[in-house]
Amino acid sequence: MSAASEKIRVLTGITTTGTPHLGNYVGAIKPAIEASQDPGVQSYYFLADLHALIKCQDPRRVQESRLEIAATWMALGLDTDNAIFYRQSDIPEIPELTWMLTCVCAKGLMNRAHAYKAAVAENEAAGNQDPDKGITMGLFGYPVLMAADILMFNANRVPVGRDQIQHIEMARDMAGRFNHLYKGQYFTLPEAVVDQKVEVLGGLDGRKMSKSYNNTIPLFVSEKKLQKLVRKIKTNSLEPGEPKDPDTCTLFQIYSAFATAEETAAMREEYAGGIGWGEAKNRVFEYLNDHLREPRERYQALLEDPGHIEQVLLKGAERARAEAAPLMDRLRQAAGLGRFV
Ligand code: TRP
Repeated sequence: MSAASEKIRVLTGITTTGTPHLGNYVGAIKPAIEASQDPGVQSYYFLADLHALIKCQDPRRVQESRLEIAATWMALGLDTDNAIFYRQSDIPEIPELTWMLTCVCAKGLMNRAHAYKAAVAENEAAGNQDPDKGITMGLFGYPVLMAADILMFNANRVPVGRDQIQHIEMARDMAGRFNHLYKGQYFTLPEAVVDQKVEVLGGLDGRKMSKSYNNTIPLFVSEKKLQKLVRKIKTNSLEPGEPKDPDTCTLFQIYSAFATAEETAAMREEYAGGIGWGEAKNRVFEYLNDHLREPRERYQALLEDPGHIEQVLLKGAERARAEAAPLMDRLRQAAGLGRFV
């Protein structure tokens, strides 16, 4: 057994639609980069670009988002010699495994998937005759592709948001069925890891920071734009001199997601002492800007050198395929698709 296979395998995918924002950083990117530094862990992080096609059929947007997300992770310090960092679409074994799993996955299981049920509910609410109106097989079968992502690398742990727990359970279900049907231990049953500590970051309007609410602060906007966005964060109408409550304040929450414990405690005192909103926003902007300046520069440099990003991802794909291909061979044998001689 190689050293890598004795480590705990942690795997997660990032759907490549949209531009990464502060909420993505705090909720997913930062903990993932930290986890990848643990010597007891082999991490697999990938750009879920086949998933992107479910939601986005604008090729320019898909292409741009893949590059931006790869550059973001690299600029923020992902060690790509350590973590296996790849594009899903560079691993042909994944769609192949998706098909094998599709053939053991009960349709009824997919009927119960939240994303599909939500789309049906929307059609029903809109009074559409066909409850499946506008729903592609991609959306319907999406948990199978996700199961293939996970099972392909025998991941033990899958850090995800709450909304994804059901998909990990479905992956376990498919793994179990396959193992049972073809009488072998082909797949490890993965576990979802939902970090309780990572709270959801608030956005400009105080709701969860999310692209769907259009209230995000992108990670690597220009200094000027960053300042403008921080000034837009919603605060209440208390005047300078009046004590303010940090615990219900989005501005404070964003600050504390980046600042150290001591810095956060100091800001808490400023709130109690009645710091004015204009002043507080300046301080938060300055702080974010100081901390984002270097990664922002690295990010810009990376975007100007897509050839380097391409190379890193191809190397990642090569490492990933070194594991995926032998497993896929075993699976073909198991299913009766092996060579004749
Ligand atoms: N569906 C996940 C999301 O929307 C992204 C994803 C795709 C993923 N494949 C995965 C996450 C495999 C974990 C493991 O967030």
